[in-house]
Amino acid sequence: MCPRSFLLLIFVAASVGLSLCQGSLLGSLKIDCGAQAAHFRGLMSYWDTDEKYIKTGDNKAIPSENFNSVTELNTLRYFKKGKKNCYTLPAVPSSSYNVKASFYYGNYDERSKPPIFGLEIEANEWDEVVTSSTVAVYHEAILTARGHDFSVCLVRLKGKHGHPFINALEISPLSSNGMYETMNRDLTWFRIFRYRFGAGETVLGYPDPYSRVWESYTPSTGEESVTAGALFFQDNSNEVPDTVLNQAMEAPSLNNSLDLKLDFEKTDDNCLYYMTFYFTSMHSSTWMTGTNSFDIYIGGVHKATVLTEFSKCTSWTWVDARMNNTKVLNLEFRPNEQTSFPPAISAMEVFGANHGKKRNLGLIIGLPIGLVLGLPLLGLFIYFIVLRRKPRPVQARPAPQLTAHNGAIPGQGFDQEELDELLHLHFSLSNGQV
Ligand SMILES: *[C@@H]1O[C@H](CO)[C@@H](O)[C@H](O)[C@H]1NC(C)=O
Ligand SMILES: *[C@@H]1O[C@H](CO)[C@@H](O)[C@H](O)[C@H]1NC(C)=O
Repeated sequence: MCPRSFLLLIFVAASVGLSLCQGSLLGSLKIDCGAQAAHFRGLMSYWDTDEKYIKTGDNKAIPSENFNSVTELNTLRYFKKGKKNCYTLPAVPSSSYNVKASFYYGNYDERSKPPIFGLEIEANEWDEVVTSSTVAVYHEAILTARGHDFSVCLVRLKGKHGHPFINALEISPLSSNGMYETMNRDLTWFRIFRYRFGAGETVLGYPDPYSRVWESYTPSTGEESVTAGALFFQDNSNEVPDTVLNQAMEAPSLNNSLDLKLDFEKTDDNCLYYMTFYFTSMHSSTWMTGTNSFDIYIGGVHKATVLTEFSKCTSWTWVDARMNNTKVLNLEFRPNEQTSFPPAISAMEVFGANHGKKRNLGLIIGLPIGLVLGLPLLGLFIYFIVLRRKPRPVQARPAPQLTAHNGAIPGQGFDQEELDELLHLHFSLSNGQV
């Protein structure tokens, strides 16, 4: 047996991790919003000021008594004026990026009133940002650039208070080597969950070269957290950091399945989901004896059989998943007859995207209106021009023009309401008896 993680308590105590230095990728950009000067952190990580990317707003620093351990969060840019203020970020056309926006209120205006405002990316509604005096909030999206730049906007919301602000923006080009390769690049994908399981602390960026946040999910009683030590994981096209993969949450025995419940307050048929699960066997003896295998059931339906190996990442992705009005999605990892070890999971990601069905709404509404207005006009036209032509020549007049008109249709973005639902998912774990 591999060692049980006694690090649990230590990690729980230190669950807010710091990223003191971050690796940099070619083409990545880190913007320390509101900073007075560009600066290096560590050898690799260059933080630019935001002057080149936005013209509006004012700089402000967080009062030192509220400093966050993540340095770039201690300055911000806030927007007193305008409904919408936008950053323009450079991009390579057709390249995909992980875009991360960070918000830390830290009572910078000494009003003790953390604002709530909207976030947009390329005219897609992204999220409602609910800020806090004490903790930082991170929002992430995967976007494929259409042109040489794209916009990230902060939007004042009706009925919400406070001036929009932002502390940091990071864009990381995704590797073209199979990273999230089954994700539909025509859509913008919003991160709903990204969890690491087991005892590890939350990863806020470093050592993930794409600055992704891997939120720690500490097992409750019944599940166990196991660690496989420092290993090198092969076959990991999404480049999940090894530190995330070498810990897992495992069912306590071969007689137990591992159940996850994703509680969607409301689901919407306009939303597509993209879910990826990462597994690795925590048992080095799978090299010599036995296998570690289990079946994935979603909503009681068998989706896949997974065979995990020590020191290797196995992933399974549910592409273009639909909820079919299911509110609570049951994920079950059930040991099968071949296995010698209980099921275990290291990490998971859930993204949501609007697949744009709503675009047709204009046509659906427009067509009947066009017919209702158009047919009588056509009738009049025929009556005057054709039927009444003979008895009395009518003066030539322009034929009635029928023009199709589409009202303003929301783009690919989420409705704010949809987003509220989407982004407040509950997550619970339980052990089910097989
Ligand atoms: C699993 O179930 C079998 C049959 O009910 C039982 O004999 C065995 O002791 C159980 N094993 C564990 C680890 O609970
Ligand atoms: C929704 O329906 C599709 C098609 O029947 C099915 O493949 C999918 O598993 C269903 N989704 C859920 C959450 O059960």
